[in-house]
Amino acid sequence: MMLFLDTAELDVIAARADSGLVDGVTTNPSLMAKAGADIKERIADICGLISGPISAEVVATDAAGMVAEGQTLAAIAENVVVKLPLTMDGLKACRALADNGIATNVTLCFSINQALLAAKAGANFVSPFIGRLDDIGEDGVGLIEDIRLLYDEHGFATRVLAASIRTVEHVEASAMAGADACTIPPNIFDALVQHDLTDKGLAAFLKDWEAAGQGKI
Ligand code: E4P
Repeated sequence: MMLFLDTAELDVIAARADSGLVDGVTTNPSLMAKAGADIKERIADICGLISGPISAEVVATDAAGMVAEGQTLAAIAENVVVKLPLTMDGLKACRALADNGIATNVTLCFSINQALLAAKAGANFVSPFIGRLDDIGEDGVGLIEDIRLLYDEHGFATRVLAASIRTVEHVEASAMAGADACTIPPNIFDALVQHDLTDKGLAAFLKDWEAAGQGKI
């Protein structure tokens, strides 16, 4: 399972890149606006830090405009994945870009039917938004489970990218539901490693070692 960082902040990505655990990065227009960066420069910089899939989202809403923007974004680096909204124009643009060998991530997926259409449009990734479904009282992780079943049943190669992650529990539930990737806000990424028993156990091991007069190995 791939773990992506869900941010456009370069220093935040750089600080976690040497963990060897960051398989890719996702951005969206809101994250890019928050970062206050020029999208082309920022995507180039992120691609310089992480060699895996880097999602960069179009802002055009018509298929031709999305294709043009997608081609511009894809030309930045070979690991750019063009992110497209799950609209009919987005699906048309997805098919056109896929037919030209450009990787795509169809985003804002909230239903099984939408995931079916993204797969048929040749998307490399589909991004179901778990948190936003939970926000309206629906079952975000349940949608991941359903899409996994759908894609396995019909042999679709589109990878399921769990997005809109709010908690560490969302990450583990997505993994257990069969997501191929999960894009995670930095604070939640940092929390994945934490467990009180790990901290207590390590402190006890080191205390025993020191009490026995042992030194460095
Ligand atoms: C990632 O691809 C999405 O843009 C992101 O996960 C959305 O998360 P949000 O619902 O917290 O904005």
